[in-house]
This record gives sequence, structure tokens and C-alpha cells, in this order.
Amino acid sequence: SQARKIVILPGDGIGPEIIAEGRKVLDAINEQYNLGLSMETCVFGGAAYDETGTPLPESTLNACRDSAAILLGAIGGPKYDKAPRELRPERGLLGLRSELGLFANLRPALLYPELAAASSLKPELVAGLDLMIVRELTGGIYFGQPRGIEERNGERVGFNTMVYSESEIRRIGIRAFEIARQRGSRLCSVDKMNVLEVSELWREIMIDVSKDYPDVELTHMFVDNAAMQLVRAPKQFDVMVTSNLFGDVLSDAAAMLTGSIGMLPSASLNEAGQGMYEPIHGSAPDIAGKGIANPLATILSVSMMLRYTLKEAEAADAIDAAVAQVLAQGYRCQDIATGQSEEKVINTTEMGDAVIAALQVGVD
Ligand code: NAD
Ligand code: IPM
Ligand code: MN
Repeated sequence: SQARKIVILPGDGIGPEIIAEGRKVLDAINEQYNLGLSMETCVFGGAAYDETGTPLPESTLNACRDSAAILLGAIGGPKYDKAPRELRPERGLLGLRSELGLFANLRPALLYPELAAASSLKPELVAGLDLMIVRELTGGIYFGQPRGIEERNGERVGFNTMVYSESEIRRIGIRAFEIARQRGSRLCSVDKMNVLEVSELWREIMIDVSKDYPDVELTHMFVDNAAMQLVRAPKQFDVMVTSNLFGDVLSDAAAMLTGSIGMLPSASLNEAGQGMYEPIHGSAPDIAGKGIANPLATILSVSMMLRYTLKEAEAADAIDAAVAQVLAQGYRCQDIATGQSEEKVINTTEMGDAVIAALQVGVD
């Protein structure tokens, strides 16, 4: 893959709106820090289905394979919910994750102090919140066979299979322990071992991996309790590691602790360090086309791309600092506005512009 090529996938709904702002920031940082990145935009998701009849065209997949990193907006929408399942935008996304082997999904939930009032929890419960959810992304019930809807005993049944191999559990476990070691050295593995055999194996392998990480404290929690603990006392967590579906659900819940799902970025990494970067939210059909979507999750995903794949920590720090600065200046999109008088409620493009302005002030 080309070391400096970035593929951009705007997608559907608010995807193109938030990607325009992420792209602005990426272009600005590329110039400021002389990163030598080249950008290529490809069609993906519902937009690709409309244009080519498939959500993940061969040309897009090849461009992604050939890239260092991918920046994705969001895909999907009600328009596509009646399309054959294998041609829906979501299948394109799962296909891309699977084809590139992006098994490690990092979803950091960080509270910017200025957004404490926007959190759905009381400020004292979230002050200083800094949690990392490590979600397995290419296995589990999302991909298990058999799956389908079929006729049995005169009625239809729907079925999916939750399956993990030892090696799949081990590699996400190793990734999570490595991340925990770089942070607060506490890892909570979330499973449903009291009911599911697949979770019994998950827990056994996590314990086995932990033997190589005596410096990291491993704990276990059932997923129902974890959901409750996340909204009861979220600061008890440092790093959480969990399976594909559990991680999907828990990360949307964690997002609200930080003020809005419009704030949460993500990285999806493979063994080679290649990554796809995207906000954890979807295409938000209810606000698409209105120009009010919060682009900060996408802009923070650009920062994660610089940090995790391109190893440009200084440039990543500059973006994080610029985001902190615009929030400190009182700029808010609607989703993170609370009605306080010092807030300046702005739209999607104005938020992108504010981050660019903060970046330029931050430069010597
Ligand atoms: P969603 O995340 O799109 O929206 C949930 C709620 O959050 C909506 O009220 C929306 O307006 C709000 N929201 C989301 N992002 C926002 C932002 N940046 N700024 C302000 N508000 C924001 O979830 P959904 O409604 O359940 O799903 C809509 C579509 O998106 C579905 O087709 C789904 O499959 C798809 N989806 C795609 C991805 C992805 O591309 N990675 C992720 C999740 C959902
Ligand atoms: C996400 C989304 C996807 C998922 C869907 C759109 C396939 O919800 O990225 O969190 O479930 O992984
Ligand atoms: Mn999700």
C-alpha cells in the first residue's frame, strides 16, 4: 500500500457534510506540517449502490487496499433499507472492514471539560472521563455462519451465529493489553460468560493473554452490568475490551457521556497498521442536508489517523488542541449546545472553519 495515500469515503446522509470539514482540516494540517499526503475520494455505501449497483465497488476496494489510511463519513439510510440485504450500505462497510482485516476498533470516549454540561450524566460523574473501548470488529455475530431467514415448521425463523476462534480473541486481547499498558494499565473484559459458550472461551483466552501483561490489571464484567456501570460510574473504567456487537452498543452509550455521539471518533486497525477512521455515529437521516451535523467526531478521526497510522503525533496533538480551543471559545453545534449564554451555536461548516482558525493561531 502507498505510504502517504489517503482514501476518502463521504458516504450517505450527513457523511458528505462532515467529510467536507474533516477534509478541510486534513488539507490544512497536510500543508502546515508538510506531510506529503495525497487524497483520493471514492464512492461508497448507498451513494455507490445508486451509482454502480453495489455499496462497495471493486475500484473503491482496490483504492482502499492501496492506501495508508481511509477516512469515512457515514453510510446508510431509510432509502436503502428495502434493498436486498447483501447490497445494503451496511454490508459494504462490513465488507470493507473484513477485506482489509480491520479487527481492532478503538473508540475513545473523552470528556472535554467545556462539555460537562452537555453530558447526559451529572458533571461530577463525568469530569475527567477518559475511557477507551476496544471493540473486536471482524468477527462475532456480525460475521458468523450460518445466518439467514428460512422456513421451519410452517413459519419463518431468523438466525445468526456468534462465533469467535481462539486466535481472533487472542489478537484483540493482545491489542487491548498493549493499549492499556500505554494508559492507566487497567483492562476490563466485557462478556456474557454466564450464558454464552463463546464468552466462556473469550474469558479463558483473555486470562491466558494477561499472563504476558503482569503490569496490567485485568477484570471481567458481564455486558448487562457493564451497560449499567457505564451510566452509573463511568470513571471506574480505563480500557474495555469486548466483542463486535457488545462494543457497538456500549460505545454509543459511552458517547452520550461526552455530550453527544457527534463527538466520538474511531480507528479500525489491521495487523499491518493500516487503518480506517470514522466517527462512530451513522448517517443521521433526521438531520441530513440541514448543515447542522457536528463534524468534530470526523475531525477527531483525522487526528486519530495522524496518530495511529501516519505516526504524526505532533500534527494529531495540534488538531486535538484546536478542538479543545474552539470548545473553550464557546463554539457549539446544536447537539452539544445547552443554552448557556456564553455559547455560540454554529453550523457544520462554521465549526470546520473554527477548527482551521484555531490550528492557524496555534502555529508559530
Ligand atoms: P445515527 O448515529 O445516524 O443517528 C442517531 C441520532 O444521533 C440521530 O438523532 C442523529 O441526528 C444524531 N447524530 C448522529 N450523528 C450526529 C452528528 N454528527 N451531529 C449531530 N447529531 C448526530 O444512527 P441511526 O439513526 O440509528 O442510523 C442511521 C443510519 O446510519 C442507518 O442506516 C445505520 O445503519 C447507519 N449507520 C452507519 C454507521 C457508519 O457509517 N459507520 C454507523 C451507525 C449507523
Ligand atoms: C458502527 C455502525 C455499524 C456497526 C453498522 C452501520 C454496520 O453501527 O460503525 O458502529 O454496527 O458496526
Ligand atoms: Mn454503531
